[in-house]
Amino acid sequence: MHTPTQLQAILEEAIKQIVYPTHPNNLYEPIKYIMSLGGKRIRPVMVLMATELFTENVKSALDVALAIETFHNFTLVHDDIMDNAPLRRGKQTVHEKWGVNNAILSGDVMMVESNKHLSKVAISVLKPVLDTFNATAQGVCEGQQLDMEFEQRSDVSIAEYIEMIRLKTAVLLGGAMKLGAIVGGANETESALLYKFGENLGVAFQLQDDILDVYGNPEKFGKQVGGDIIANKKTFLHLKALALAQGDEAICLTATDLAQEEKIQAVTALYDKYDIQNLANNEMDKYLSVANKALADLPVSESKKEQFTTLVQQILERDK
Ligand code: IPE
Ligand code: IPE
Ligand code: MG
Ligand code: MG
Ligand code: MG
Repeated sequence: MHTPTQLQAILEEAIKQIVYPTHPNNLYEPIKYIMSLGGKRIRPVMVLMATELFTENVKSALDVALAIETFHNFTLVHDDIMDNAPLRRGKQTVHEKWGVNNAILSGDVMMVESNKHLSKVAISVLKPVLDTFNATAQGVCEGQQLDMEFEQRSDVSIAEYIEMIRLKTAVLLGGAMKLGAIVGGANETESALLYKFGENLGVAFQLQDDILDVYGNPEKFGKQVGGDIIANKKTFLHLKALALAQGDEAICLTATDLAQEEKIQAVTALYDKYDIQNLANNEMDKYLSVANKALADLPVSESKKEQFTTLVQQILERDK
């Protein structure tokens, strides 16, 4: 078994080798830009790790891994338009650099490029791979739609929030595991357990992303800190603060008359007062336990599972 770090290096090299057309330059330059900005490569690493549980030929899943990472980067380009985000991976977002229309179209082509990677998979697994990829991609879009709709609502429940992040984020981590399992030749039980591991890890991952959006170190986080507060996102932190606030304390959460920095400060002070970060950490732990249980139930040797523990640790250590 490779370590996640070794797989990351294999992926970095494979991403460097991808050749995109060059004309029109403004269509392809943003793709090269976003794909080469780094990022943790969590999802394609998960694809390869799942494959390696069942076959030594880890490279048999390389094209699927590239498809997943390209799709993920496409969602980031479009997500940054929807979230009006200025920064991604510590650099200007694609729409800030090339304009919104250009970012939409480059994103669209990235979806096509994902499909081109996918179509290189062995014909024997092509259908289940395509079905899984399509279900995953559709789930992400559904989650993104809910995320946007929730910006305008003030009655979002925690259960609705969890379902929204399950769709926008977690199904992609689950899908990555399942795709890797399919390519490796796993049976239904094995791929279902791996999906469950990825999906629950994904919910924990998005809860952590929401925490870091408020409390992250701006340099390591690489995104605008406080972006969710400004965009009125219904995160776990927002919903918990809304439920716990007394009197008129909750006004700052939806304030429109405050300058951005003032609003971020007021909302962060409210979160601090009710120790919301701690509540969010506890919520994360619940999902991590379910993920770990799914992994524990997987009928493969403990030594093979070890690298997943390393991966979870690496993911949870991010940006601290
Ligand atoms: C960002 O994902 C989008 C979320 C689901 C929070 P990552 O944090 O994995 O982004 P990169 O690829 O490492 O930049
Ligand atoms: C991530 O949600 C979901 C997708 C990109 C599909 P966020 O909007 O929280 O992601 P970041 O924080 O911009 O990376
Ligand atoms: Mg978003
Ligand atoms: Mg965003
Ligand atoms: Mg976020």
